[in-house]
Formats: sequence, C-alpha cells, structure tokens
Amino acid sequence: MKKKITIIGAGNVGATAAHWALARRLGDIVLVDVMEGIPQGKALDLWQCGPLDAYGGRVTGTNDYVDTAGSDVVIITAGLARKPGMSRDDLLAKNVAIVKSCAESAARYSPDCVMIVVTNPIDAMVHTAYKVSGLPRNRIIGMAGVLDSARYRTFLADAVGVSPQDVNALVMGIHGDNMLPLVRLANVGGVPITDLLSADKIAEIVKRTQMGGIEIVNHLKTGSAFYTPGLAAVEMAEAVINDTKRVMACAAYLDGEFSISGYFLGVPVVLGEGGIERIIEFKLTDDERQALQQSVEVVARQMEATGL
Ligand code: LAC
Repeated sequence: MKKKITIIGAGNVGATAAHWALARRLGDIVLVDVMEGIPQGKALDLWQCGPLDAYGGRVTGTNDYVDTAGSDVVIITAGLARKPGMSRDDLLAKNVAIVKSCAESAARYSPDCVMIVVTNPIDAMVHTAYKVSGLPRNRIIGMAGVLDSARYRTFLADAVGVSPQDVNALVMGIHGDNMLPLVRLANVGGVPITDLLSADKIAEIVKRTQMGGIEIVNHLKTGSAFYTPGLAAVEMAEAVINDTKRVMACAAYLDGEFSISGYFLGVPVVLGEGGIERIIEFKLTDDERQALQQSVEVVARQMEATGL
C-alpha cells in the first residue's frame, strides 16, 4: 500500500524535505503549515512535477491536521530558524510552543506514525514532542547526526580527494557546538582517516563540522541550512518506509545506553518500520565518554528549559 508522509512546516526545510521525498518516491505527501496558502501553493507546484519526473505520489497542502490522518511518517520542521549571532538555544522558548502543538495534533491523527523532529534545538524539541505526543520512544527520533555526519564526511572527502560516499564517519551527541565527530572511527573505504590526514587537518575538520550550521547561517544571514537538513530527514524517513534497517546517527531516547538515561542524544541506531529498532552501543574511550558527557549537560539544561 502507498505510504503517507506528513511534513509539518512549509518553510525552507519542510518544502525541501517534501521535494526530496517526492523525488525519492516515498509515497503521498501532505505539507502542513499555519500560514494559509503557503503549503497549498508549494504542494501544488510540487505535484505538478509529476509529468516531468516519474510520478512519485500525490502532494497536498493544508492548514488542517485532519488531512494528515493515518500518516506512516511525520516530519516536524515547523519553527523559527537561526539568524547570525543566534545560538540554537535562543530558539528554544518560541519553538517549544510550536513543536508542542504540532506533535500533539499530528500524533492525535496518526497514532501509529514514526515521528522525526528537525526543529531546533533538536535534542530539546524531540524531548518536547516525546512528552506531548504519547508516542513510544522507538517511534520518536531527532534528526541531527545524519546532517552532522554528512558535513563531516563532505569535509573529510574533500581533504582526502575522494568521493564522499566512500567516507564513513559518525557524529554523536548534541546537535550543537559540543557534538562529537568521532575521529577514531572515521575511515575512507575502510582505511583509518588518521593514516590519511594530519592531526591538525583532522582537528580543523572536526571544528568546521561542529560549526557547520553557523557557517551557513553567516553566509545566508536570513536563515539556516535547508537542502541537507531536508534530505537528512528524508533519508531517515526512507529507512522507515522501506524497512531497510539502515544504520544512522539519530537523536534517540537513551535508557541506560552509553550509561546515559533520560535524554535524547545522537547515537548510532538501526532504522526500520518500527522506527528505532535498536541502538548500537559500543565501547567509547575515556575522552569520547567525557565529550559525550558535555553534550548531556547541555541537553539537560535545554530539557529543563522546555518545562516538560
Ligand atoms: C544546521 C541547523 C539545521 O545545523 O541546525 O544547519
């Protein structure tokens, strides 16, 4: 049966995610926004791609959650984006209210969905959606590691001079300056990155990855990245819809994994039709554990600030 994907927020990230989801033929797409006319106009425009590209599915724009009923996957992108000088935390108070309302409404109409949260600050927003939606922990996932790993892999591939597809690298922890791009596990076609690049070059790439979002905000000045964030969410949705069991870094609710409990944090997970089917736990070095602990401290403060 054809799958149904709801994307909440018809701004840059939401509309781009809808575009990627259509191009990847994930199913029928519903684009929701509070702004009247915007989701309708963008959806109509996207739907009319059908004759020119192989038909991917119906695209509907709406202001009413009734139209989202029975979705298999819900992607929440609604909320304010950063401007230069703003941290992701500066968005928290405003975006909590927005994500609360979106997650509540979406879960009411699609109680069996897998929900992917993209709104920033992601680790706190996925916690917000978890608290208000009533969805089980395996069916609520934060998008961040896929985006951060994509940035890390791009920079590493560029430095080595190879295809980014042959660079495997994991970014764990918070979607913020304290994120943890793992050097030890990064490799090019199985060859450790530490054998191919100098320690200084790797340190520069790690820093650039951690600051990957703000680098784009500073260029754009009016908002933040959307092409790769939109694709990252769709990459996750595709793994759920096609039950591929792909391994991706996602913000998952930790209940003792990596000795952390009660927080959403970026870790490698297996994604399939059940959402997060497994968290892949592995042994961290002392330095990595300490770095992850810094993420926990920031997420704990953010979680407290949500009031949930
Ligand atoms: C970024 C935003 C989406 O990292 O947080 O570009």
